[in-house]
Amino acid sequence: MHASKKSQRFVLISIAVLFAGFFFIIPGYAQNGIGAPGHLRCEYLSNPTAIDVRQPRFQWVLMNSGRGVLQTAYQVLVASSSANLARNRGDVWDSGKVSSGDSTQVVYQGKPLVSGHTYYWKVRTWDSQGKAGTYSLPAKFGMGLLERADWKGQWIGGDGLLRKEFRLPGKVVRARAYVTALGYYELHINGKKIGDKVLDPAWTVYPKRVLYSTYDVTSNLKEGANAVGVMLGGGWATQAAGGPPEYKAPALLFQMNIELADGKTVSVSSNTSWKTAPGPVVSDSVYNGDVYDARLEKPGWDRPGYNDAGWAPARQEKGTAGTLSAEMMPPIRVTDTLVPRSMTNPEPGVYVYDFGQNFAGWAQLRVRGPRGTKVRLRFSELIYPNGMINRQNLRSAKARDIYILKGDGLEKYEPHFTYHGFRYVELTGYPGTPSLDSIRGRVVSSDVRTTGSFVASKEILNQIQHLIHWGQLSNLYSIPTDCDQRNERQGWMGDAQVSAEEAMMNFDMAAFYTNFVRDIRDAQKPDGEIPDTVPHKYGRYPADPAWGTAYPLICWYMWQQYGDKRILQENYDGLKKYEEFLRSRAKDNVLRYSYYGDWIAIKHTPGALVSDSYFYYDTRILADVAKILGKTGDAETYAKLAGEIKDAFNKTFYNAKTGEYANGTQTAQAMPLFLNLVPQKEQGGVMGKLYNNIVYEHNTHITTGFIGVKYLLPVLTRDGHNDVAYELATQTTYPSWGYMVSKGATTLWELWQDKIGPSMNSHNHIMLGSIGAWFYRALGGINLGPDGEGYRHILVQPRLVEDLHWASASIETVRGKVSCSWKHQTGAISVEVTIPANSDAKIVVPEEEDMTTVTVQEGNHIVWKNGRYVAGDDGITGAMSRDHAVEFSVGSGYYHFLLTGE
Ligand code: BGC
Repeated sequence: MHASKKSQRFVLISIAVLFAGFFFIIPGYAQNGIGAPGHLRCEYLSNPTAIDVRQPRFQWVLMNSGRGVLQTAYQVLVASSSANLARNRGDVWDSGKVSSGDSTQVVYQGKPLVSGHTYYWKVRTWDSQGKAGTYSLPAKFGMGLLERADWKGQWIGGDGLLRKEFRLPGKVVRARAYVTALGYYELHINGKKIGDKVLDPAWTVYPKRVLYSTYDVTSNLKEGANAVGVMLGGGWATQAAGGPPEYKAPALLFQMNIELADGKTVSVSSNTSWKTAPGPVVSDSVYNGDVYDARLEKPGWDRPGYNDAGWAPARQEKGTAGTLSAEMMPPIRVTDTLVPRSMTNPEPGVYVYDFGQNFAGWAQLRVRGPRGTKVRLRFSELIYPNGMINRQNLRSAKARDIYILKGDGLEKYEPHFTYHGFRYVELTGYPGTPSLDSIRGRVVSSDVRTTGSFVASKEILNQIQHLIHWGQLSNLYSIPTDCDQRNERQGWMGDAQVSAEEAMMNFDMAAFYTNFVRDIRDAQKPDGEIPDTVPHKYGRYPADPAWGTAYPLICWYMWQQYGDKRILQENYDGLKKYEEFLRSRAKDNVLRYSYYGDWIAIKHTPGALVSDSYFYYDTRILADVAKILGKTGDAETYAKLAGEIKDAFNKTFYNAKTGEYANGTQTAQAMPLFLNLVPQKEQGGVMGKLYNNIVYEHNTHITTGFIGVKYLLPVLTRDGHNDVAYELATQTTYPSWGYMVSKGATTLWELWQDKIGPSMNSHNHIMLGSIGAWFYRALGGINLGPDGEGYRHILVQPRLVEDLHWASASIETVRGKVSCSWKHQTGAISVEVTIPANSDAKIVVPEEEDMTTVTVQEGNHIVWKNGRYVAGDDGITGAMSRDHAVEFSVGSGYYHFLLTGE
């Protein structure tokens, strides 16, 4: 059995979601009252152990699935103890009854929150009749160390292992360990590894900031003798990448605060009284892998009573003067375990395992054999026809792990401080003959929650969705990466910006991008420049404008998808500085500099057109952000500037005689259309050229790079050519996503071409996955309504295509679940929609193009007949006829529309 439990579950859930919608009416909850809110989040996190935001934001979901449910007020209670909260005493903050429909981004306004404390909170809401619901179940959040002075220790380093013994004079009632490293750490207390994070802390701009993790270690400590052990690895801090390593050696900063039963507190922190010795990890490198000599293990090193007489004192390290911030995003974890699909033996002593799926992580080895036996695991995405692994596309990354046996029965090994991108594993040096059970695949990524699902009756679409799902996860390693296998794996901003919307629909990315946007801000220079990669290792300062745009665009998508106003506030100055930097590089309002442009394009588009398009886009976003934040002066200034850039853009790149921008490529036509840069009277002509280019000149194939393709399908759908967009999406000959599938891809390639040589051709890049957002919007029908940030107002508009019989999409939004499932049989279109409580929607029920008379029923009620809205159905507030569709205005709830016509 090869399919992972998780992917099976994914398929089962998708099928269940689909059919639940089609065949059963989902019953609404009891209609008496609004009920209790659920899914409580603080700073987007569920019961975080530690945050360091002094005014955290709260979020809840109204669990009432009834129709037209609205929240008219809320009350949040925050207490210093669970007992107080249980007695409804918000001793830290009682918001009182606040008249507001907000259920997200609700800002804490209570007493100053204290370092190291845990707080308990709950919320209730009032419905449109002014009736109060019941309180939610309690949730909690802990505060991290808010002041630098809370850290008593020093940065220390050593030879791999660090340890400290200490005695506790009483029973432990509460203990928190705060730990960070330049590099990676593994924390052990009294013989046990603490927590399930791996490759922690997150990779940040180390000179500016490192992130610490907080663990509740109350139950790991005991009265009397205790020991802390830390294994250190180099990670990105000591990895040569793009240039020399940033730091010579990894370093640790540790603080543990322990409260005893008698009220005393004990603090244990890192300093030179700790001891160090070499451990079994002989060498480690993100690109090259771990070398682990099990003979060098030191049994008991992480327990009290271990004889460390031969250990040296820990060395004081300089560490970083950067800010210490709480790690507030889903950690990197082992998220799944895969069983290999096959094992072959292409040469004597060489065993090759195929997992049937390209993914990021590592292999677990299970082995028995003589002490000193050296087993080697090498990783690859590709395989030669003779069955040997093909590693040409890994460039200089050695991507191998070496395990040296201690000769002690069954030995299980997993690397500690590296990861690989692979589908195949080559095993050599194995004592005896290995079996399928000798290795397992460990799937590793930032553990973001899957929040979206998309399935359709056309199998190729589901296969592409599969490629996106795996490709996206493989490229989330505390930052969004370009790839996961070769000597790169960087926060390339171009890749990040084109994939961000797809990622936000498929996964809960709110906390992840909140962190990444701060990384971008940390990487920004005083003159506003930002780099191509964040943290900056590869590429340049300043970024190619199509890469730098990740800063404004991800902020903007955070606003749209999660209603995040704070990210706009916190980055306003940074965004403005970036805009002014671009402006300083523009001449006569045209920004021309470009390094990569429409990268990996089949038909080249001048880089200046791409850069200038983003100059306009970034300016417009800044104007919109200024407006949202009430900065009217700036809003006007930048709106005016955007207008000037538009004029200059058209003057520079548009040829009115030919209807072409620059050289008329798909990207050159699609970007100005998408951005509404095209003068109105020219729009038809510009689209006509694009249409001809796609359909007649290229037989409905894509010729763009990864920039242009992000806008191509959406603009075709928006401007009346959804059928062409669909044909591009489902194309199976070169170049297309389907071509990758036809060649056996299990994640998305870096190139449209099928290349496997030593050239640049990763088989697990995410940037061409931007099509994922189009799946949800065009085929799944789930869109934001006007001013519908955070899905407050929703537009459900599924687009019919001849070839598609049904499609089903759902997204767990910050306000609850939005879903749309539609089915088309000749003469009948069924559309089922779920709108979360406290949101409203326009639902566009499509007609067949040649239908003249249509009737629409919802449930058992006729709601549209003879070209008119028939009132009376609960939750529907109106309807109107649209181009080949009927649009209904609805409140929350589940609706099942059936449109029939002739
Ligand atoms: C990366 C790309 C990245 C590019 C910049 C490549 O090596 O893998 O995805 O955006 O460099 O042109």
